[in-house]
Amino acid sequence: MPRYRPIPLALALAATALLTLTGARTDTPSVLLGGQGSVERRDDNAFSMPASNLDEKHRANFLTGVSLFRKTWSDSTAASNPRPGLGPFFNARSCVACHPSDGRGAPPGAFGQAQEPPLALLMRLSIPAPHGTQPEPVYGNQFTTEAVAGVASKGRIEIDYRVIPGRYGDGTLYQLQQPGYRLTALGYGPLHPKTQLSPRIAPQMIGLGLLEAVRAEDIVANAHRQRGDADGIAGQVNRVDDVERGTAAIGRFGWKANVASLPQQLFNAFNADLGVTSDALPREDCPPGLTACRPHPTELTQGQFEPLLVYSRLLAVPSQRDADTAQVRRGSQLFTAARCAVCHQPRYHTGELAGFPELRGQEIRPYTDLLLHDMGEGLADHRPDGLANGRQWKTPPLWGIGLIPTVNGHSRYLHDGRARNLAEAVLWHDGEARASRERFRTMNAADRAALLAFLGSL
Ligand code: HEC
Ligand code: HEC
Repeated sequence: MPRYRPIPLALALAATALLTLTGARTDTPSVLLGGQGSVERRDDNAFSMPASNLDEKHRANFLTGVSLFRKTWSDSTAASNPRPGLGPFFNARSCVACHPSDGRGAPPGAFGQAQEPPLALLMRLSIPAPHGTQPEPVYGNQFTTEAVAGVASKGRIEIDYRVIPGRYGDGTLYQLQQPGYRLTALGYGPLHPKTQLSPRIAPQMIGLGLLEAVRAEDIVANAHRQRGDADGIAGQVNRVDDVERGTAAIGRFGWKANVASLPQQLFNAFNADLGVTSDALPREDCPPGLTACRPHPTELTQGQFEPLLVYSRLLAVPSQRDADTAQVRRGSQLFTAARCAVCHQPRYHTGELAGFPELRGQEIRPYTDLLLHDMGEGLADHRPDGLANGRQWKTPPLWGIGLIPTVNGHSRYLHDGRARNLAEAVLWHDGEARASRERFRTMNAADRAALLAFLGSL
């Protein structure tokens, strides 16, 4: 029984789209959020296009990447199979199951069925250690909810929401919903009493290579610029281990900037989410002593890794819509006036990413400083990750957020998808973002609508 929506976009369609639709621009003024590689696509395939300046040498790998991202991995656990593939523990059988249409996953209930298991919402685990955290001794780094035949799964994730009422400055009422998480049906005994949980929803896949090409010094400069900020904004760089460089590097990916490069992110995703091992991460995340986790040759081949890397680096960012309407222009001014742009840093001139001319020297508008911020108690997960503490989250890029309803059929935002629309996402801001949030909360209705229209145009 498939637990997730089948993906309507067939490989064939993507291939045709690749050949016919790249680079097609209209005369409507639009802001090229993703530089010269931006695309004018506004339908449910808006996140699935290759950069419109795709280099010829990447075409074949990009197309192979399309099919690998959609590939369903099978749990051929037969002892005779030298490459067991999926599992023994996994969250999903394909990348696209969590990143539907290269877009954003949804938490349970987003489509009305509150009881569906959280597929695209995964749960990181750890316990406190002298210098940060270490994996939960039995359950490991991630509470995978699936296992191959013959192996007990780690268990289930249950979520209940508590309603938190609030009021805009003009008296209009609103409600936020605060999720609470419980791990049940535990397959391997009790969890360590100090277990820390970090729920995370799968984000959209666009523009990731461009973010990788942002110069490290520009990220560090963002942190310097925020020193002594009047609102108390004080972004911090995350530094994490990276396979590519072999040393600590600035974290850019993941909700806590917990991953430095896309190669590392791909190895992590295969290992933690699908249970597919690689030379970089040859061990399964398994309870100790389980025979299903016997050592075996690595399951991911170089022939699979390269195309997926090209694919993940070159998914295009759709250009802004309706940028020249009076309401969006007003919203853009309010975004700056409310000091959202201090964290959601609008623009960069990218540096260089070896072998990827498409990403070099691009004027991009991702709306992120790629820094960590204390976002207050309501959003805290109390689980450190690299240098990030349990109250910090990375400012997520805002490009594409206005198209998530079109691409994914839902409007769930923030790291665990708790916000049911863009207004709720902003109302959850606290901690360093409290002053900024208060400017939004106390705007009149027309200004709030303008600010939201601007977000929706991104
Ligand atoms: C179980 C759901 C799930 C599966 C399966 C999954 N992902 Fe993800 N993905 C996530 C989540 C959740 C995050 C955010 C992780 C974090 O914050 O640490 C993420 C993050 C990413 C990112 C970084 C995005 C960003 O903006 O920082 C990339 C790239 C990515 N995944 C690629 C893949 C690829 C490629 C596959 C298949 C090999 C895959 N994912 C499989 C859930 C999933
Ligand atoms: C102090 C830094 C900071 C400021 C100021 C700030 N934000 Fe954010 N923003 C963040 C962080 C960090 C997150 C992610 C929080 C999370 O997922 O728990 C976020 C998330 C968001 C999201 C959801 C994005 C997504 O991908 O789900 C939106 C929309 C957003 N911010 C808009 C705004 C607006 C509008 C303002 C101004 C009123 C603003 N932000 C001010 C740091 C900031």
